[in-house]
Order: sequence, then structure tokens, then C-alpha cells
Amino acid sequence: MTAEKRAGRFVAFEGGEGAGKSTQARMLANALKHHGIDADVTREPGGTAGAEAIRELLLSPPDAGLSGGWGARSEALLFAAARSDHVEKRIRPAIAAGTWIVCDRFVDSSRAYQGGAGGIGDEAICMLHDFGSKGLRPDLTILLQADPDKVTQRLALRDGDESDAIGGRGPDYHGKVAARFAALAEADPAGFAVIDGSGDAAAVHRQVMYALAPMIAEAQGRQARA
Ligand code: TYD
Repeated sequence: MTAEKRAGRFVAFEGGEGAGKSTQARMLANALKHHGIDADVTREPGGTAGAEAIRELLLSPPDAGLSGGWGARSEALLFAAARSDHVEKRIRPAIAAGTWIVCDRFVDSSRAYQGGAGGIGDEAICMLHDFGSKGLRPDLTILLQADPDKVTQRLALRDGDESDAIGGRGPDYHGKVAARFAALAEADPAGFAVIDGSGDAAAVHRQVMYALAPMIAEAQGRQARA
């Protein structure tokens, strides 16, 4: 995976189901705008028309009743294809133009879900990402960790009995996802900020802003000099 020069910044939120990523992504994008920074919030799988169509296929597999849905390999390929379209058509052009991208999930979700819990391994996921998205990495990945009991309550309120094909997998699968996310963050302390997402949204948002403070100050300094 590669590092490259960018005008805008790229921030991804990661974590298991119901960790509060979508709320925090929206709050961050609003706060950035208040700081005079142009920001665009997007999500994966999705973010472009093509990737949103692939999202439908992934979360509601057409023949789930007959075949049990996608296998780990086909699932990984579909996520990588959706991401490739998203990166090429939306993320790279935005950051090249100076916009900050705030993304609700990115490649580390594939590393944790398909690579970790799905058992196909990190090397395969990184290879697909190198090919599909030329290895693009966020400038910072914010891993939101949440207490499993809190998450169960949040998901019951949000989804009722309607969880999607991946969210509905058992506690064993989601336990492996959480363990892999934690291992990825531990292996790359400069690339990750790990934040406890169990508190109320405003308190979590303050921690997110604290983690991003140096990057925001740097962007404002650049704007002031321009
Ligand atoms: P999302 O809508 O973000 O779910 P939630 O709001 O519950 O966190 O993501 C949809 C599902 O797709 C979620 O179960 C995680 C899964 N997923 C993967 O398995 N691999 C991936 O690469 C991505 C981006 C998501």
C-alpha cells in the first residue's frame, strides 16, 4: 500500500456494527466545515452509483436462500470492486482538489471481515486493494470500539429484526472482526487512533477532534499561507 502527496486529507472510520461510525463521520464533516475546510462524507460499500449497486448485491445476496449467499472470496472481490469505483471516481478526485474525504468504513473493514473473520487472510485483501485501488490508505483511520452490550442495544433500536447479510452473522464472526480490527490498529499506531465509542456522541466527537487536531492545524496553516 502506498503513501502519496495529497491536497485534501482522507479520514476513515472503522469498527464493528453499531459502533457509531456514521454519526461520527457526519459530525466530523460538519466540524471540518466550521473550521473552513471543505469536507465530503461518504461510505463503503457505496459512495458512487456503481458501488451502491454492488452494496445491494452484498447486503441482500440475490440467492441467499438457495446458496447461503456469497462465499468469502466472491464477497472480497465485490467489496474490492465497489471500493475501486469509489476511489477512482470520488475519493481520489476530491482529495486531489483539496477536499477532505470522511469515509464510513474503508479497506480495513475488508481486512477485518473478509480477511479476518472470513478467513481469507490479510495478504489476499491487500493484494486486491493494491490492484483495485492502487493501495490507497487513509491519512488517519479512526477505530471506534464499543462495549458489546451497548452495541446490542443500539442495533436492536436501529435494525430490529432487519439486520443485513453480514450484520446478521453470529457473535463468533463479529468477535473475530473486533479482534482483527484491534490487531490492525496495534500494528500501525501512527495510522490509527483508537477511540472508545461507548460514550455519548458529543463526548466521542471531542476525542475524534483531539486525534485530528494536528492535521486540522496543518491544513489551516497552509490555507493561511496560501
Ligand atoms: P455498514 O452499512 O457500514 O454497516 P453498519 O452501519 O452496521 O456498521 O456496512 C455494511 C456491512 O458491510 C457491515 O456488516 C460491514 C460489512 N463490510 C464488510 O464486510 N467488508 C467491507 O469491506 C465493508 C466496507 C463492509
